[in-house]
Amino acid sequence: MRHILSAKDFKKDEIAELFKIAGNISLTNSKLLKNIGKLVGTLFFEPSTRTRLSFEAAAIKLGGQVISVESAMGNSSAKKGESLKDTFKTVSQYVDLIVVRHPEDKAIEDAVEYSDVPVISAGSGVEEHPTQALLDLFTIKNNFGSDPQKLNIMFTGDLAYSRTIKSLLYLLQPYNMNIMINPMHGEPTLNWDDVSCYWDDDIYNQLPNIDILYMTRHQTERTKETRNKSRFRMTYQFAEAMKSSAIIMHPLPRNEEIDPSTDRNPRAVYFSQVKNGLWVRMALLSWLLNNN
Ligand code: NCD
Repeated sequence: MRHILSAKDFKKDEIAELFKIAGNISLTNSKLLKNIGKLVGTLFFEPSTRTRLSFEAAAIKLGGQVISVESAMGNSSAKKGESLKDTFKTVSQYVDLIVVRHPEDKAIEDAVEYSDVPVISAGSGVEEHPTQALLDLFTIKNNFGSDPQKLNIMFTGDLAYSRTIKSLLYLLQPYNMNIMINPMHGEPTLNWDDVSCYWDDDIYNQLPNIDILYMTRHQTERTKETRNKSRFRMTYQFAEAMKSSAIIMHPLPRNEEIDPSTDRNPRAVYFSQVKNGLWVRMALLSWLLNNN
């Protein structure tokens, strides 16, 4: 059975197939897709707005249905001490696919074999967020073409705890990007030996050279550390200093790192990422449910 727990789980040709489906959905509003008619269960042991609602909207728009536990730490039998293994075993008796987010890094991976249906990770601790990486890559390709090589991409924000950065880095491996790292909070927990990149503390001077600026918030819920290495805050004016073709990405939610004035700058694509998340998750659900 196929589960999606890591961005590493996608082969390049599978991504191409998924993006073709997602692109068609965005043009035809899914009218060409066959009704999945399946029941999806969403289990969120951590807060979420975009990921949970986009998965649920995706399932419903595909003609499926959804049952959901949000705040699952307090509102499911986890509160009574039930293990995630038992929760997966139980919920998979009811549904055709489980979407799950959990604050512990390895919890989903350790329990997944107990599920009798496919499981999609919607975020595992500080480790991975594979479907965010998919929609991020989809957004990059929408802006720079299907084979985006040799772009200057800078990651900034919380490099220690941003799982979205780690997952996206895995998906970017085949593209020969020039990766720059600007840590505002903490040292990255990733094994950077695997990634060819260089550290750059001077975000202001780099702005005119960057094609993709990928920003993240400080994950204050995961650390007591308040140290803020850089006080960079994106504004409309700073965005104007970038190339006209450059894009500013963010998985959202944003905090102080992006001033709302940036939203009206055409380089800001973070709300396009949100929309793309719906198309990509519709594609993924229909692909997994039709192939499993
Ligand atoms: C991210 C997450 O949950 O990892 N948000 C998201 O899913 N779009 C980023 C974050 O929480 O900062």
